[in-house]
Amino acid sequence: MKVFVTSIIPEIGIEILKKNGIEVIQYKNYLPIKKDELIKKAKGCDALLCLLSNKIDKEIIEALPELKIISNYAVGFNNIDVEYATQKKIWVTNTPDVLTDATADLAFALLLACARRIVEADQFTREGKFKIWQSDLMLGKDLKNKTIGIIGAGRIGQAFGKRTTGFGMKILYYDKKRVPEFEKVTGAKFTSLKQLLKKSDFISIHTPLNKETYHLIDKEEFDTMKDGAILINTARGEVVNEKELVNALKSGKLFAAGLDVYEFEPKITKDLLKMKNVVLLPHIGSATVETRNKMAELAASNVVRVLKGKNPLTPVNEIRQVKRKK
Ligand code: DGY
Repeated sequence: MKVFVTSIIPEIGIEILKKNGIEVIQYKNYLPIKKDELIKKAKGCDALLCLLSNKIDKEIIEALPELKIISNYAVGFNNIDVEYATQKKIWVTNTPDVLTDATADLAFALLLACARRIVEADQFTREGKFKIWQSDLMLGKDLKNKTIGIIGAGRIGQAFGKRTTGFGMKILYYDKKRVPEFEKVTGAKFTSLKQLLKKSDFISIHTPLNKETYHLIDKEEFDTMKDGAILINTARGEVVNEKELVNALKSGKLFAAGLDVYEFEPKITKDLLKMKNVVLLPHIGSATVETRNKMAELAASNVVRVLKGKNPLTPVNEIRQVKRKK
């Protein structure tokens, strides 16, 4: 049994694989492995353990006929051609739950950072500009009694929502369907995307990236937002049209934006780099020691289970195990 690990992950994951008698071939580099090299190095492997920065397309799946599982070290799996993997009877797995709180925490950190201009104020102070207490210095926005619009009320969206209630915010949310439990716990109100955009003071995106959510927030959506709204994105960059985001920031339509993800990641639209009212992070939603270890454990355990003929713990597709007749 052989697994190809496409990058550096916490050692705990590698140990689990080895302890279970799986040979580990690892690309020990932070830069994503090139497609040709991946195919060459993973030849003959039964499993692939990859990151969100590895695009696992039809060509790769086709070139690795022994694959039984593609284990993604992320909850989002838009980097994998799941449909084609399913056709080829290959399990695709992700790392849900273990990163929910870390990602919700980071989204909330961005919300506070934008509302209270934390990064801008830090910069100001470091530059020696703090000369005297001023009544109008670095004025931000209150959270209390404001409306937060949550786009996507899955695990992370709900965890984020719970955090906002502690700050006295009112929640509007939009998803494909209602989540009664979330409504019960937080008092969140289900609404259309249009109403959410119109009524929210703050908007936070927690939806997966797929054909339906690509550029879900485009020019029309920015135009619909309240003047002075704050937008937070810790989901996937392509959910927002980044050019239109820049326009909305430039025109003053948005008060601020907090971003952990980018449309052309890891490239960042140059204009954003120059703006003081934008907080930019390098996709660190799940980046805590504990969470990254748990992600490695889960991604490795999924590989172990499938290679031992069991169902994975956290599949995103369904593979029917066909029992061979004796
Ligand atoms: C994920 O797991 O999809 C996150 O974006 C990684 O932090």
